[in-house]
Amino acid sequence: MSYQQEFNAAKNDPEGFWKDKSEALEWFKPPQNILTQDENGIHHWFADGEMNTAYMALDYHVNNGRADQAALIYDSPVTNTKKTYTYRELRDEVALAAGMLKDLGVEKGDRVIVYMPMIAEAAIAMLACARIGAIHSVVFGGFAAPELAVRIDDAKPKVILSASCGIEIKRVIEYKPLIDNAIEIAEHTPQNVVVFQRPEATAELSHDRDVDWSEAISKAQPAECTPVKGTDLLYILYTSGTTGKPKGVVRENGGHAVAMKYSMKAVYDIDPGDVFWAASDVGWVVGHSYIVYAPLLHGCTTILYEGKPIMTPDAGAFWRVISEYGVKGLFTAPTAYRAIKKEDPNADLAKQYDLSCLEALYSAGERLDPATFDWLDEKFGLPIVDNWWQTETGWAIASNMTGIEKMKVKPGSATVPCTGFNVQILDENGKELGPNEQGNIAIKLPMPPSCLTSVWGDLDRFKASYLETYPGYYVSGDGGYIDDEGYLFVMGRVDDVINVAGHRLSTGEMEEIIGKHPAIAECAVIGRDDALKGQMPTGFVVLKNGITMTDEEITKELITLVRQEIGAVASFKEVHVVPRLPKTRSGKILRKTMRQIFNGEEYIIPSTIDDPDSLSEIQELKG
Ligand code: COA
Ligand code: AMP
Repeated sequence: MSYQQEFNAAKNDPEGFWKDKSEALEWFKPPQNILTQDENGIHHWFADGEMNTAYMALDYHVNNGRADQAALIYDSPVTNTKKTYTYRELRDEVALAAGMLKDLGVEKGDRVIVYMPMIAEAAIAMLACARIGAIHSVVFGGFAAPELAVRIDDAKPKVILSASCGIEIKRVIEYKPLIDNAIEIAEHTPQNVVVFQRPEATAELSHDRDVDWSEAISKAQPAECTPVKGTDLLYILYTSGTTGKPKGVVRENGGHAVAMKYSMKAVYDIDPGDVFWAASDVGWVVGHSYIVYAPLLHGCTTILYEGKPIMTPDAGAFWRVISEYGVKGLFTAPTAYRAIKKEDPNADLAKQYDLSCLEALYSAGERLDPATFDWLDEKFGLPIVDNWWQTETGWAIASNMTGIEKMKVKPGSATVPCTGFNVQILDENGKELGPNEQGNIAIKLPMPPSCLTSVWGDLDRFKASYLETYPGYYVSGDGGYIDDEGYLFVMGRVDDVINVAGHRLSTGEMEEIIGKHPAIAECAVIGRDDALKGQMPTGFVVLKNGITMTDEEITKELITLVRQEIGAVASFKEVHVVPRLPKTRSGKILRKTMRQIFNGEEYIIPSTIDDPDSLSEIQELKG
């Protein structure tokens, strides 16, 4: 079948198409209601099916000939550890962890926060929740205590699963003090905090609520899989919106499992038994989908890598892992490829390894810029697949669907809309635009399986953020165009979200934090282009009258503040103290124009500008 035939099949008969795909998985009770709408008009997939995601991902394979195949390989250059779990071993570990959660009183529908570094226990924790129908919410380890606190208050977890520390190259980051601090800040207090002790740091278990992971596991009995409905939630994953409060993207079990399984072959051309490596973090959606769930649902071997593309120990790290485990497909963010390119421009380190197993390079998280594309193409001569997606969808909205048809590649384009995604470019009034016209990228409803069906606890926010701007469409927040051959070019966010080293961050949130500093009258944060990280946040602040601190002092305090409130991952390192911010006469800060100036792009001075000199001041800063 060609891509176009596959795409049309799903477009013309979505229910028939996705019912067929759902049959690739073993349900306890196969769904009859394939696509339904609830009382709020929201679409759901596979509502009446009964299933368990962990069963489909593990037990099914144990019972069907893959018990002794490697399911998960943990490779940690930062601790010099390697460990392989077969499907049977992983199923057994997950069943015990699920038993531990049950002993702690966790039941179907309860939330469990997973705040863990990249260790096998993080995947085990996620799957253990899935096994008993609990809803996990993984919080990226690089977030600071206040970010964790916001998620604790929103998700109200019964239990937090964690580890004593994470390791950032050589720096040991203790998690327990961060958790205790977050619980102190939060209004909600979880019943228990379970800590996996790592040799690099021992956490003090000083509260009654604290539990030692290994001790609890030693007392636990393996738990059976709890059947859940297709529409029961598997997880909540918080992502940055335009305000300070992150959005809890909810993912339903049924649609997720079907889309994950389907995408492994259709998008990534990976077969059961193959080794697939998503070099990301379980704290991000790529990690959820392609480190944990999709490869396991598909019967593959997945790699969980605790290290960086460079410095652990060098820019050959990825190539070492690929050759050592026979990786067929590598999936990472452009920033990782750029980091390798910077350290090893001739790819000499890659030449030291046998990479004959590697068949394709996949990239997502931000646009794969043509320069990086060209470098990968020249050095590796492999198919390069840029795929565009979001936490909200859980899988690629646009990609070269290499398992269906290997289409020609256009650098800078994420190729074509994936099966089930009716992608349209809309103008400001919601009118569909023609080829090569830039606008807002939207998806005509209904979306295919796996896409979010609400924001946790806030249906109104879900509707307001995604569905109400253009009725009948989901609005992605990205801008771009479709060329006359149907190729989608995603050019960047049209809102206040930025992408720093593949990490999605909100400039609005940074502004809220900076605005709290007593010396600041007002501020604006924009995303400045960066050769390595894609974008870097850049702050502009106006001081209150009478402030005597120097610019250096202010800058230092603001950088520390953002690091304390969001975390090091914000990479907030640049602040400019300015006499005023460019604004319209009605008082709107001209962030877009500031961004264009700072990025050396062409810009038009808005006719509504209050004082044109304020833009000249920004221009001078840029130099
Ligand atoms: N826990 C604690 N701190 C973390 C962290 C974690 N899990 N992840 C990152 N940080 C810290 C880093 O140590 C760094 O701290 P510093 O400012 O004190 O040096 C800061 O957050 C910024 O991290 P990062 O933006 O990742 O930059 P880096 O300079 O450490 O590394 C790359 C640059 C390109 C090597 C790295 O960003 C990378 O590997 N990116 C891949 C991104 C990715 O997988 N994205 C997922 C989407 S597919
Ligand atoms: P996240 O939800 O963290 O996965 O971030 C999603 C956002 O990252 C998207 O809305 C885009 O702005 C950006 N993004 C992800 N992948 C791509 C890609 N392949 N091309 C362009 N932008 C991307």
